[in-house]
Amino acid sequence: MSRTHLPSPLTPATIAATALTALLAGCQGQWGTDVQSALHPAGRAAESIESLWWFLCILLTAVFAITLLLLGLALLTRPNPARPGPPLGPTRFVVLSGIALPALILVVLLFASVTTTVALRPPEPGLTIRVVGHRWWWEVHYPDLGIDTANELHIPVGVPVRIELEARDVIHSFWAPNLAGKMDLVPGGVNVFWLQADRPGTFRGQCAEYCGIQHALMGFYVVALPPDEFDAWARRMLSPPTLAEAAPDPPLAERGRELFFSPAAGCYACHAIKATPAVGDVGPDLTHMGSRLSIGAATLPNTSENLAKWILNPQAFKPGNLMPATPLAADDLDALVAYLESLE
Ligand code: CUA
Repeated sequence: MSRTHLPSPLTPATIAATALTALLAGCQGQWGTDVQSALHPAGRAAESIESLWWFLCILLTAVFAITLLLLGLALLTRPNPARPGPPLGPTRFVVLSGIALPALILVVLLFASVTTTVALRPPEPGLTIRVVGHRWWWEVHYPDLGIDTANELHIPVGVPVRIELEARDVIHSFWAPNLAGKMDLVPGGVNVFWLQADRPGTFRGQCAEYCGIQHALMGFYVVALPPDEFDAWARRMLSPPTLAEAAPDPPLAERGRELFFSPAAGCYACHAIKATPAVGDVGPDLTHMGSRLSIGAATLPNTSENLAKWILNPQAFKPGNLMPATPLAADDLDALVAYLESLE
């Protein structure tokens, strides 16, 4: 009989260790990317939001601290009829600190919010990207450039980018906190907003609206490139995927290509690869799969080892996603991975 592993009891030490790990994990980005945080802005929209955040945080912390201080004083001070009362008198004190001051603070907050909203007005876009949310990945199109990809947006630095958002199934929310605020993706409609990166970098984004059990693993990347590097990237995306002959082991990759289109693996039924008969649109476009940062919408780093594990059993990494397990023999799996990783 196998032993059941019971969760270890929650002691103060384990709680403290878990909290510390979580805190430290928040100080670095995933797989070497910039830390995913609205407090590390890399674009002017995110900078406006960060300024508002700090203003609200400092002002409201002060309000909270002063309120607690007054409450503490009231609780600790015993009534003493011999002592003179407050100079204002109780009624004036309540009117001033309970009505006038809060009203003034609310007006200040309203002014700060409206100022930020005005600063976030969309500028004239230099590029348009259409993003379609699926459970649980992102379809990405560049309608003006004719580029289709998935789970990664490449943008040129210093250019305002218009983002058009729609959803295929349920409501999602597009949030790249280093670059802009959030916007929902709603089935049956198109929401529009914008972002801009003012420095190069790779920024992780996240679905920010609960959309099912893998909501937390619905990540994406925004890769901001200097304009000439962006142009080179776009040219590469528009060219057909690398031929299997360019792979490190051409015969292996060629066998993988045949497997991709065979009923044994069946990959072509759900995925598309440009310039091939594969036109499936159930799963992400794999045209330049080998050049992507991640597998499964930021679930695993894109390495041959991870891709092999993912193909064998995607449900082990992202339970509930639509990709079924593909039980392949080890040599077939190696061949398929070699082909997919050669698509750069
Ligand atoms: Cu998509 Cu949460």
